[in-house]
Amino acid sequence: MRCQIKSNMLFLILPFIMLVHVVPASAQTPMSVLPGAGRPVAIGATSARRSHLMDRIGRGVIAVPAAGMRDIEVIVVQDNDFRQDDYFFYLTGLETPDAWLVMAVGEDERQTILFLPERNPDREHWTGIRLGPGPDAASLSGIDETVVLDSLDAYLRRLRRANRGPLYTLLYGPAERHDRIADWVFAGIDVRNVTPVLDSMRVVKDEAELQSLRRAIEITMDGHRAAMRSIAAGLYEYQLEATIEYTFRSLGADRVGFPSIVGSGPNSTTLHYDVNRRRIEEGDLVVLDIGAEYGQYTADITRTIPASGRFTDRQKAIYDIVLGTQQAAIDAVRPGVTVRELNQVSRSYMEENSGSLCGEESCSRYYTTGLSHWLGMRVHDVGDYSMPLEPGMVLTIEPGIYIQEEELGVRIEDDVLVTEHGAVVLSGALPRATEEIEALMATGSASGR
Ligand code: GLY
Ligand code: MN
Ligand code: MN
Repeated sequence: MRCQIKSNMLFLILPFIMLVHVVPASAQTPMSVLPGAGRPVAIGATSARRSHLMDRIGRGVIAVPAAGMRDIEVIVVQDNDFRQDDYFFYLTGLETPDAWLVMAVGEDERQTILFLPERNPDREHWTGIRLGPGPDAASLSGIDETVVLDSLDAYLRRLRRANRGPLYTLLYGPAERHDRIADWVFAGIDVRNVTPVLDSMRVVKDEAELQSLRRAIEITMDGHRAAMRSIAAGLYEYQLEATIEYTFRSLGADRVGFPSIVGSGPNSTTLHYDVNRRRIEEGDLVVLDIGAEYGQYTADITRTIPASGRFTDRQKAIYDIVLGTQQAAIDAVRPGVTVRELNQVSRSYMEENSGSLCGEESCSRYYTTGLSHWLGMRVHDVGDYSMPLEPGMVLTIEPGIYIQEEELGVRIEDDVLVTEHGAVVLSGALPRATEEIEALMATGSASGR
């Protein structure tokens, strides 16, 4: 199938209107059978995000590229050959590779165009059917103008000649993208970084984002429940990892949001341990820090559980001080507070309440991490940490105590939505208190419990 470009003549008459290539509807494969197209797009939400971005940028052009395929001959691929670029996904909801979204903002007019690679039947034999320019792409994305990617550079040069203002784009990515951006700079285009504005938008989640995040969190909670039910001394950490990730995929997760952490005994004190090769021993505490990714959003939830199904008195005492610390921080969440202030609340709580549990000094000397990070499409999501909390922000609350000399690490991590009225713990349905964890573990099949 070939797409045709209408004449430059018409372009002169309508200098700011890019033309949609004419693709006969009959030549299109129906969208329902386009496996490369991804899930349905929340087109109301993506359109609102694009409008907001254009309001923020003012006069200029915004060009946002999709991710490309990963090359299995060059890199080690851990899940599939493709994961969409987060910024492109945020603005389009599309899972198609090698596209560009362009928005041109003038004084009185705006134009949004999706540039897509032309379909190629030979390549589709390897990749499956891809989204090309035409009515399917328009109806899936809610963007009416879909044109062939080959016309992108010429289009941008025309905007440059018409003096449409700076060009905002992503200043990272593969070498081909750098080459393209370098060409634009040599052509005299004023190229700027669009990510600071997009990051400030992404830190406050809209309803469509929260829907995907809630699903990722539900799946992750089920992964935790499965691990709690199946853990037993004698299992290897990777067997719990397999149970967790089996649960994730069984429930439709796209991939893990980060490598699963299953740290038993001494490994419970290594913050980002993900080797997961040790045999779990009776009496161990096991830190399970896991997150399923669903619809491009990832959960990040940690529970610390006893291999035997029962916490010892010592383990429970340390656990409870971490739990109290976490609750103090959750109670302090409200609009206007900063992450730094929450961190301070949590440290003060631990300092005032650890008594002699960790010797003469408070347990806070073993609280060696920060309390929180933003959560979203990335596990450590984009956003400025000096911003006071606002409704719609999502952050983790994850204090811990890591005592290497006792091979005893405890982390409790939940995913918290900021609302007008304070925190909503999105992962709150998962057992958190020691008795709740022991009760759930007692329903498991392992060790005759
Ligand atoms: N799972 C990584 C973290 O909690 O930061
Ligand atoms: Mn985290
Ligand atoms: Mn985590």
